[in-house]
Amino acid sequence: MALTLKGRLVESLDHMQICKDLQSDMTYHEVAEKHGCSKGTVHRIVNHYDMMKYKKNRITDQSVHGKRRGWACGRPTAKYKGAYPNGFLKRLDKLLGITEEDKVLHLFSGSIGGRENEDTMDIQKDHNPTFVADARETFPMGDNTYDVLISDPPYDCEEESNAKVVKIHYSNPLWETEPVRPYSWMNEAVRVTKEGGYICVLHHLTYKTPKNCVREMMVSVTCGPNTRVRILSIFRKMTKEEVIAAEKETQLVREIKNAIESTN
Ligand SMILES: C[S@@+](CC[C@H](N)C(=O)[O-])C[C@H]1O[C@@H](n2cnc3c(N)ncnc32)[C@H](O)[C@@H]1O
Repeated sequence: MALTLKGRLVESLDHMQICKDLQSDMTYHEVAEKHGCSKGTVHRIVNHYDMMKYKKNRITDQSVHGKRRGWACGRPTAKYKGAYPNGFLKRLDKLLGITEEDKVLHLFSGSIGGRENEDTMDIQKDHNPTFVADARETFPMGDNTYDVLISDPPYDCEEESNAKVVKIHYSNPLWETEPVRPYSWMNEAVRVTKEGGYICVLHHLTYKTPKNCVREMMVSVTCGPNTRVRILSIFRKMTKEEVIAAEKETQLVREIKNAIESTN
């Protein structure tokens, strides 16, 4: 195999021994110590020979529980269309560690009711939400109000491929409401969430990270065989300090790139 790994140290190391050591029970750290190089160098070498340590991720290494990645929830038991999968909210409570002290907003809440300390918002007043409001417009709450915002928007979307636009609209047939474009409500959701608070979206789309947020987790959610998969995207709203640090980092990267370009 042609050696594309550059660097005097890398070239002088015993690559095959490094790969063998890593495939034994040794950790990256131990292999690096043994060969007198950094963990990064070990990583580059084993990656080059496609000998990364994936052993525990192979399908044959998984226990029965490990083979079920993501959340397998029950089918919704509610009588209306579009309800949460059974057990979904309980799992989310546990994952985020939601307590009675946390202020929660359920957006596009349908008929879920909500507990004490929880607000609900939906466009349909028949559901009796705390706020009857259109999520495509300004929300009727102040900035930084909620510790957690949980949303289950209609799964409307428009995809453009090969100059054809595919429209998927659930709103009209299911709730007789107008389509809600993905992200059309996100700026407002971020505004009403406290700094450090979580914003959760259950959708067919893997939501992209909103401005001034970080992606914390993605969970696939199914209701068993022959049902469609959904993705729970969990974001955290950054604190002011984190936003400033992130902006500084972006600026630094830009400056370094400019400096490299101007020397080329
Ligand atoms: C997928 S369902 C959510 C159901 C909920 N997860 C449940 O378990 O009952 C979507 C909800 O969004 C509401 N909705 C539709 N358009 C809306 C809009 N523009 N603003 C706020 N809510 C809207 C619908 O009335 C419906 O209740």
